[in-house]
Amino acid sequence: MTRSFVFLLTLLSLGAAAQQSGPQQYTITKRLEARKYAVVSAHPLASMAGAEVLKAGGNAFDAAIATQLALAVVYPEAGNLGGGGFLVAVTPKGKKIAINYREMAPGKAHRDMYLDSAGTPVRNKSLTGHLAAGVPGTVAGLIATHPYAKLPFARLAAPAIRLAEQGYIITAAEARGLNRQRATFLKVNTRPVAFVKDGDWKEGDTLVQKDLANTLKRIAEKGAAGFYEGETARLVAEEMQRGGGIISVEDMKNYRAEVLQPLQFKFRGYDVVTMPLPSSGGIGLRQMLGMVENQPMEEWGFHNPKSVQLMIEAERRAYADRAQYLGDPHFVDVPVDNLMDKDYLSRRMADFTPGLASLSARVPAGVIKESDQTTHLSVVDASGNAVSVTTTLNGGYGSSVVVGGAGFLLNNEMDDFSVKPGSPNMYGLLGNEANAIAPGKRMLSSMTPTIVLQNKQPLLITGTPGGATIITSMFQTLVNALVFKLDASEVVNAPKFHHQWLPDVVYLEKGFPNPVKYSLERMGYKFEARGSIGRTELIKVTGKGKLEAVADGRGDDSAAGE
Ligand code: DON
Repeated sequence: MTRSFVFLLTLLSLGAAAQQSGPQQYTITKRLEARKYAVVSAHPLASMAGAEVLKAGGNAFDAAIATQLALAVVYPEAGNLGGGGFLVAVTPKGKKIAINYREMAPGKAHRDMYLDSAGTPVRNKSLTGHLAAGVPGTVAGLIATHPYAKLPFARLAAPAIRLAEQGYIITAAEARGLNRQRATFLKVNTRPVAFVKDGDWKEGDTLVQKDLANTLKRIAEKGAAGFYEGETARLVAEEMQRGGGIISVEDMKNYRAEVLQPLQFKFRGYDVVTMPLPSSGGIGLRQMLGMVENQPMEEWGFHNPKSVQLMIEAERRAYADRAQYLGDPHFVDVPVDNLMDKDYLSRRMADFTPGLASLSARVPAGVIKESDQTTHLSVVDASGNAVSVTTTLNGGYGSSVVVGGAGFLLNNEMDDFSVKPGSPNMYGLLGNEANAIAPGKRMLSSMTPTIVLQNKQPLLITGTPGGATIITSMFQTLVNALVFKLDASEVVNAPKFHHQWLPDVVYLEKGFPNPVKYSLERMGYKFEARGSIGRTELIKVTGKGKLEAVADGRGDDSAAGE
């Protein structure tokens, strides 16, 4: 069957669906047991899109593509065509894959582009509006995923096209998000946008995105060229010219995703398969787990002050190293092996005193002798493929710029670069020369899609949004599951804590037990409250062919499967 014939068939079946109904109905499923396949993501309709293509004979890669495309429609806060992400996967034959589709700095970007004439960062420039956007990577990432999938790309885009064309019913959380963003949408956009209507959005309203549907159809028909060349690329460049941005038609055409070997390491006999640079997450996770691995945390217990203190100190040290050493490996030499080395990690903890808070001011990065929106989805299929994807626009709704005529939001990922060495980004993260801006360079990320293997078979497929808190959330997810043996729902929903070296405070999530906080206060820790830390999606393989999927209780996240 030729590709265009398949496309036509898909459009015909879409047409049939269009006659059947208005917006698709959905309910939120927080926990699901499945025997064949499971998908868990930030929105029920996106998880259902993944399940739909699995039911139609697709595998976990098909579902990961369909779910991401659907998220670009029904979860505009973070799902995207105009952002980027990372995929980590394991196949039944043991092949391990990582795909890097992080955004790149445009060709006209330069190191000091967000500084004023006095050399001071102009905060808003890297966060809101056209200049904040990096060259989007998501579509290239999906196309790079497709060789591992089974169904035609157009079939995978079908649920997203249907949702964009017929509209979907928004939740209370989405209505609040869109209303909050209204003034910014109106300020930065050069054309009317689907996200702004007369009056406020309410739960139950229908959001239709015709321009986005047309962009999705171009991608379905032409693949990468439907986005990086031709009409879509031209619309992006025209939007940039109208709004004072710098992404050009050449930047779009030059964008490439890369297929990499995942980062792998052992933790207490389990194999952890996770994202390499330009994610700082895999290295950070290895460092944190390595710093606590030999301590008897299971004897101390979950949320015991001794375990929590140890974990906070591991987090502090890993973030100090992140700020100093990590950046895009195509541009800077990063001493990855040294940073992950067992002896190095035990030396890092040599100045740790149980019962006493360390001071970040006295915990610089280790010495190497040598040269709030993102979204995660996890999928497992009946043949044992496991796929873990984290994708983002960076902040909620990214730069707030919708490409005129193309209907998709652009990221504000440029803020993840170190805009000026030593000046914090929107997550308060510090960076150094290693993460300075350069044309074609990828900004450092914390996204940490992860798969844990037991006896070479997938056991946990997990990841989370949360900016700087992503790595600590993944650290706690793995420790809670593998050391404290909490059940899957508790692993996902237990209140979390976060330390990122600087500022020297521990962020505590709502619901964190007060007695533990008071014990830690007596050791010298300072605290700040956080509404929520992460939105973790987890699939646990509980037995042969048995899956437990848990969607985070912190949002509209939902599981689907069979
Ligand atoms: O790549 C990163 O690390 C950030 N851009 C992620 C942003 C994020 O998780 C926001 N979500 N709450």
